Amino acid sequence: MAKLKVGVLISGRGSNMAALIEAATAADYPAEVAVVVSNVADTPGLKTAQDAGVATAAISHKGFPDRESFDRAVSAELEKRGVGLVALAGFMRIQSPWFPAHWKDRIINIHPSLLPAFPGLRVQQQAIDAGSRISGCTVHFVTADLDAGPIIAQAAVPVLPGDDADTLAARILRQEHRLYPMVVRWFAEGRISLSGAKVAVAGVPKGATLLFSPDP
Ligand code: GRF
Repeated sequence: MAKLKVGVLISGRGSNMAALIEAATAADYPAEVAVVVSNVADTPGLKTAQDAGVATAAISHKGFPDRESFDRAVSAELEKRGVGLVALAGFMRIQSPWFPAHWKDRIINIHPSLLPAFPGLRVQQQAIDAGSRISGCTVHFVTADLDAGPIIAQAAVPVLPGDDADTLAARILRQEHRLYPMVVRWFAEGRISLSGAKVAVAGVPKGATLLFSPDP
């Protein structure tokens, strides 16, 4: 069967992108990274993708008069590559409402907190400052509201005494690298369905949660 073509949008390091590319090297993985698009031309993630033989495009948002025209250019690049799922992975641009509407139910994001707690930026520090005992990451559908779309799956990690934003971020990131490829697999297998704000994943035993609590 033809593999689902995934377009990954990045702005920086690209470690989640790399995890998706790596997962897709398995013969039985039902998706492939068809293109990586960055709004920052010299970002390390683009080089990682190129070294892995994945097509890339750098489209600077600076060359466009407004958000929507940039979004339309990114979209055209994705469509040129036959993308069926857009995966945001550290993409640091706020998008115009046009983009998630155009890719409705075909665009996901990974965020390093247990949403709906701590949307936005510097979220590991926010979790520490709030005295949270638990944090983690969330994969969710993207809507026009920032970090607020329907939740697909989460992985939890403890916030340990003595943690700073960097140690917590590293613990969360290890789970991001497991969770994102897993969710993309489910999407490609057609197992994810959306009913209003709720997501169901077929094949997950009844009563089981889509929260993963790995050992610290
Ligand atoms: C990750 O923590 C992700 O959850 C957030 O941005 C960071 C991107 O890291 N959206 P990387 O570029 O994937 O390494």
